[in-house]
Amino acid sequence: MNRRLGVLISGRGSNLQALIDAIAAGRLDATIAVVISNREDAAGLERARAAGLEAICIPHRAFATRDDYDRALVRELQARDVGLVCLAGFMRLVGTPLIEAFPNRILNIHPSLLPAFPGLDAQRQAIEHGVKVSGVTVHLVTAELDGGPIVVQRAVPVMAGDTAESLAARILEEEHRAYPEAVQLILGGGWRVEGRCLRASERPD
Ligand code: GRF
Repeated sequence: MNRRLGVLISGRGSNLQALIDAIAAGRLDATIAVVISNREDAAGLERARAAGLEAICIPHRAFATRDDYDRALVRELQARDVGLVCLAGFMRLVGTPLIEAFPNRILNIHPSLLPAFPGLDAQRQAIEHGVKVSGVTVHLVTAELDGGPIVVQRAVPVMAGDTAESLAARILEEEHRAYPEAVQLILGGGWRVEGRCLRASERPD
């Protein structure tokens, strides 16, 4: 599989940093071909540049429709021969043009054990629901918000007295382990999508 990653961000970029660090440490066999933010002020752009990566901003406000924006993303990603797109805190719904250009080739990281608590503020949703366990999910992106096949999940306990912030910090530590692992797994091949599940392919003996 083409191991050139396109990482899409909107903010802090700590998961981007985890991918950069995993590549540098030899735990992830991949190259980051480009980092794209929809926001100029995303701190992750600086992280990318500090690591010597190409980092560009494509502001969504410059486009009339979501599809126009997605088509612009596709152009930039394809121009750099990206094989796998990693959403890393990218705060935009991904639409049909991007999904069709990269079928089962887009990953997202979400701070809950999906299918619990999709959408925004997952850690706050978990606290308000009173769950005792939450965690992180890395999944393939489909048209269903936070609903694609699950690649990696890691659980963390929810402690008495936790706030959304303290839970988010605990989950984030697991995110930084889970994302490089999931990318490595997807790039390794030997899997297929069956219904809503990711399954190991049967290999010939
Ligand atoms: C993470 O919690 C991720 O799970 C969610 O957005 C946050 C991004 O954080 N999708 P960062 O920008 O990677 O630090």
